[in-house]
Amino acid sequence: MATLLDGKKLSQKIISQLKEDIQKLKKLPPGLAVILVGDNPASKIYVSKKEKTAKELGMYSEVHRLPRAASEKEILSLIQFLNESPKIHGILVQMPLPPHIQTQFILNAVSPHKDVDGFHPFNLGRLMMGDPLFIPCTPQGIMELLKEYHIDVAGKKAVVVGRSLIVGKPMAHLLLSQNATVTICHSKTKNLEEECQTADILIAAIGQPHFIKNSFVKKGAVVVDVGMNRLKDKIVGDVDFDTVQEKVSYITPVPGGIGPMTIAMLLKNTYKAFLNTAL
Ligand SMILES: NC(=O)c1ccc[n+]([C@@H]2O[C@H](COP(=O)([O-])OP(=O)(O)OC[C@H]3O[C@@H](n4cnc5c(N)ncnc54)[C@H](OP(=O)(O)O)[C@@H]3O)[C@@H](O)[C@H]2O)c1
Repeated sequence: MATLLDGKKLSQKIISQLKEDIQKLKKLPPGLAVILVGDNPASKIYVSKKEKTAKELGMYSEVHRLPRAASEKEILSLIQFLNESPKIHGILVQMPLPPHIQTQFILNAVSPHKDVDGFHPFNLGRLMMGDPLFIPCTPQGIMELLKEYHIDVAGKKAVVVGRSLIVGKPMAHLLLSQNATVTICHSKTKNLEEECQTADILIAAIGQPHFIKNSFVKKGAVVVDVGMNRLKDKIVGDVDFDTVQEKVSYITPVPGGIGPMTIAMLLKNTYKAFLNTAL
């Protein structure tokens, strides 16, 4: 039976530490601004979780809710305002944006020094160079979780399924920077099951419920499930947890794995952005 990689527990530890650090500050608290465009139900839940946790920590938090029909111009002028606001140290644009908005155009407008999601080309470029400023929160949270359980990735074979800019690609770079041998798979990969079977560390970031089955995993592998898929009234991962956990050494649950770590890393990045401006 596998050991659970408990993201909920580690995220609480990180959040308590941040709370302590913030309580000691003698000046304005770190400020996080979240921009939510439209009324996607999942996005609304994520944004309220981020806002609630930021407030619990003693951070200053603003949520800007714009209608679904908001124009690029309106979003850009809000970002411009937040880029210049001394109260705000971190800016997050909640994804996905409505289809009439060019997402990368919006992300490029966020100041790289307030880009606590790490999606600006400047930050993705620095990550690729091995000198990151802000690392995208989900892959950063995964690396922290592996570290917490003393899982050394150096020399290991890692397979990342999914090549999005927010998860798969930065994940592969982080693993590579810590000397894993990395394979990135995607929807056009041939023999995906065989590729996954070679993994000492398997990261599933696909967005397909229960896609990774028992037959995909090597005995004793470490499996990280990034997927958050809504099935009726519950959230399930990309990994078929019940059958896979019998075979592997470590596995993340969904929920309670990577989700809470992502929020903790967002707040950690916001605190880092604050400290950077204070220097
Ligand atoms: N826990 C968290 O905090 C958190 C954060 C972010 C995302 N997520 C979840 O993680 C999942 C992935 O998110 P994302 O934003 O990276 O998704 P995304 O942008 O839709 O990317 C999905 C990736 O999976 C690949 N893929 C899809 N179907 C596949 C298949 N049948 N075989 C192999 N590869 C396949 C796609 O390949 P192509 O590139 O070839 O299309 C793509 O690269 C989602 O469930 C999302 O909700 C969770």
